Amino acid sequence: MKNMFSEQEAAMPTMAQGSLCTHVITVTSGKGGVGKTNVVVNLAVGLARTGKRVLVLDADLGLGNIDVLLGLVPRYTLEHVLCGSHHLSDIIIQGPAGIQVLPAGSGLPQLTSLTDSQQLVLQSELERVADTVDVLLIDTGAGVSPTVTYFASAAQETIVVISPEPTSLTDAYALIKVLCRQHRERRFKVLVNMVKSQRDATQTFRKIDAAADRFLHINLEYLGYIPFDDYLPMAVLQQKAVTECFPGSPASQAFLQLAKKVAEWPDPQLPKSTMQFLWRQLIHTS
Ligand SMILES: Nc1ncnc2c1ncn2[C@@H]1O[C@H](COP(=O)(O)OP(=O)(O)OP(=O)(O)O)[C@@H](O)[C@H]1O
Ligand SMILES: [Mg+2]
Repeated sequence: MKNMFSEQEAAMPTMAQGSLCTHVITVTSGKGGVGKTNVVVNLAVGLARTGKRVLVLDADLGLGNIDVLLGLVPRYTLEHVLCGSHHLSDIIIQGPAGIQVLPAGSGLPQLTSLTDSQQLVLQSELERVADTVDVLLIDTGAGVSPTVTYFASAAQETIVVISPEPTSLTDAYALIKVLCRQHRERRFKVLVNMVKSQRDATQTFRKIDAAADRFLHINLEYLGYIPFDDYLPMAVLQQKAVTECFPGSPASQAFLQLAKKVAEWPDPQLPKSTMQFLWRQLIHTS
């Protein structure tokens, strides 16, 4: 175990952290391709079915693909909001089960270098939609980029997706270590994806939890698992959420159970400026 989780430090800038209100959940991972985007999309569908109003933010800067995964063709993106030609409500697109998707596309990197007037536009635009959203689900890229650590730090809950592959575990541990040591994050929920059984899932979780306990002195929270399911890639090919096109499949059932669990998390007891706060922090962070 000691060899698996190296103690090498990654130099990351410290980002501001603060209180949020609309329930903000960031889904992230150390390694790419472990299923984050599918988790976000299907968790969003499941939450929507419990009655939550869900907005999905594609924060995989430069490589965002939630619209592709859902077969959506966004006409406008955040860039149109920034140039002042459209309101945020104009660029939000409807996904399955009534979820809303904020297509960021390749425009998001510019958020780190916004002019003052663009910042004001974004802040007021986010205030306008904040009241209509119960849960903001954020899909990030993999790894320990400042954007990923920002979103993980800014959210109320961080879900780290892992798979049983050793590289997924070492990379997830590296991400958790950076968030813990450099951003003082201590709460992580771990979702194990692409496993054969519950036993495999808990064994996989125990490995990373033991490393976090031993080296970082934190305990990770086991959120559950999504089984490896051949229906999921079939849904991806059809550009649909598996919970929509194969609702009876094992992965769909697991996603819906997960959504019920997440829907029961206590509501944030904070004022209604979450999204404004979140974005203000983002655009002031380079
Ligand atoms: N539970 C599962 N069973 C079978 N295949 C899965 C499962 N979860 C994800 N996959 C497959 O893994 C691939 C990657 O999934 P996804 O795009 O959601 O990962 P990601 O973590 O978002 O990737 P990236 O880091 O590139 O953003 C997809 O092709 C998907 O079909
Ligand atoms: Mg992805």
